[in-house]
Amino acid sequence: MKRRDVLFGSAALLLACSRKSATGAGRAVSQLFDAQPTTDGAGVSLSRALGHQGLRMLDPFLMLDEFQTDDPNDYLAGFPSHPHRGFETVTYMVHGAMEHEDSVGNRGRLRPGSAQWMTAGRGIIHSEMPKQESGLMWGFQLWVNLPATRKLIAPRYQDIAPQEIPEVELERGRVRVVAGTAHGKTGPVSGIDVDPLFLDVTLQPGASEALTLPAGHNAFLYVTQGAMKAGGREVRSGQLAVLSGGEALRLEGLGGRALLLAGRPLHEPVARWGPFVMNTDAEIRQAIDDYRGGRLTRG
Ligand code: FE2
Repeated sequence: MKRRDVLFGSAALLLACSRKSATGAGRAVSQLFDAQPTTDGAGVSLSRALGHQGLRMLDPFLMLDEFQTDDPNDYLAGFPSHPHRGFETVTYMVHGAMEHEDSVGNRGRLRPGSAQWMTAGRGIIHSEMPKQESGLMWGFQLWVNLPATRKLIAPRYQDIAPQEIPEVELERGRVRVVAGTAHGKTGPVSGIDVDPLFLDVTLQPGASEALTLPAGHNAFLYVTQGAMKAGGREVRSGQLAVLSGGEALRLEGLGGRALLLAGRPLHEPVARWGPFVMNTDAEIRQAIDDYRGGRLTRG
């Protein structure tokens, strides 16, 4: 069952939240999409906010899935051993945990509030098994593309504990900075080609948050709880708002929480098949051959 409760009672206070002045053309909502219910892995029920028929990708972002349930049958089958090549997977947990194990020997348990930025590069084979805590499982997985010249680099993990993610406490809200910079705080994720911004924003009613996003980056807001206004337009829980170009973005609190993502577009051809994201069909066929032949993860 989805939990889309509005978080806060009413209040009215205007906050000037950004230390940077928001300059340039303001970003607005250019398109709005409802997340699509689907299943993936060995039968995990999830909401696909990006990467569905209506919105295949938003360069450089390829997919965003949300797992949010209190029914173990929705996720217990998990994502048993599967490969990736040519892009990055980002797992962000709110409740519950994700146990992972891979072909390189990494093994761990992502806790509530933690993030994992995994650069699959030339190849990784791993399993991801969701676990509930206190009856709840709530997390996200984002797929981020790699540029053509970097698709076959060695795999890299950035495992980020909850306390490593800077939190900016606002008078009527909170911003967690997973990647990029906001309010002078820089997130712990480093060395990512598309120079991403990944914020987890909670705003109470009446809060107003002024952010400056890099001009030229594609950006979207996915509201995960309650509602929020972006560029003057209301976006409700389970909706993904594609933002127009520009720099300044104003978010207004309606009692809700959202993920804000921005990244430099690659402007390259995309060939994708299941867990492989390359530039050409021939490279996809090579990835499948390598996987079947046991060569996917070899340098
Ligand atoms: Fe995976």
